[in-house]
Amino acid sequence: MRYNPTVPPLLNRRNSVLQADVYKWWKGLQRESLKTSYTDVVDRLFDLFPDEEHYSDGGLERCRTCAVVGNSGNLLRSHYGQLIDNHDFIIRINKGPTKGYERDVGSKTTHRLIYPESAVDMDNSTHLVLLPFKIKDMRWLISAFTTKHITRSYVALKPTINADMDKVMILHPAFIKYVYESWLHKHGKYPSTGFITIIFALHICDEVNVFGFGARSDGKWHHYFDRSLTHFSSGNHGGDFENKTMNELLKRNKIFMYKGW
Ligand code: C5P
Repeated sequence: MRYNPTVPPLLNRRNSVLQADVYKWWKGLQRESLKTSYTDVVDRLFDLFPDEEHYSDGGLERCRTCAVVGNSGNLLRSHYGQLIDNHDFIIRINKGPTKGYERDVGSKTTHRLIYPESAVDMDNSTHLVLLPFKIKDMRWLISAFTTKHITRSYVALKPTINADMDKVMILHPAFIKYVYESWLHKHGKYPSTGFITIIFALHICDEVNVFGFGARSDGKWHHYFDRSLTHFSSGNHGGDFENKTMNELLKRNKIFMYKGW
């Protein structure tokens, strides 16, 4: 009931017009007034980055396996590295590194979902997938590959980024709204990057295995690579409801979850 295959996961020129309700919701997430028009930004985006319809090849012939790798500390000592690397797509999130953690998290990355505040450099084998929570995020992507003049949002931003321009993809704002409404029933202010990534994988893959999701027993979100802690249901995300939904997907065999330590 919640899965809607007609919602486009990725943006291109042809599907870029936003319905009024999508535009209104998306604009509501932005912390600043809009200085640039959305259509101008989209034009510039697809002058620079590939304007393609990706992954519309689903069907009986395709069996694409995907590993979605979250950043949870439960990956440490898991020895999941080989298992993760054996998938067709290995989708990582935000800053989650591989270097130094190969035995537990693997070494390959085919896709990495980031937003400007969570951006890291990546090598040429990886698709940078931008998660645009605001128009400025799209402007930052353009700037990072050209003028490098955008250096701040509510925090300092990387002015530039190492990534293959020909592999850049942009998540569709309508997809973010769909995840929020259809999958999370509007819990929290907007969905977490990790949860959006799982639903994205359900749309572009045929088998979805999830690694590195799960808070500590005290409810704090810990990382395998640093000591920062956040409370999973604090702030902007409805972490409890996200967990419930993931457990339901697990129960119904739509995803499989490797829970680590
Ligand atoms: O912390 P960060 O947002 O970079 O983590 C990426 C995603 O991994 C989160 O959005 C969350 O969905 C998931 N995560 C988790 N448990 C943790 C840490 C992260 O489920 N302990």
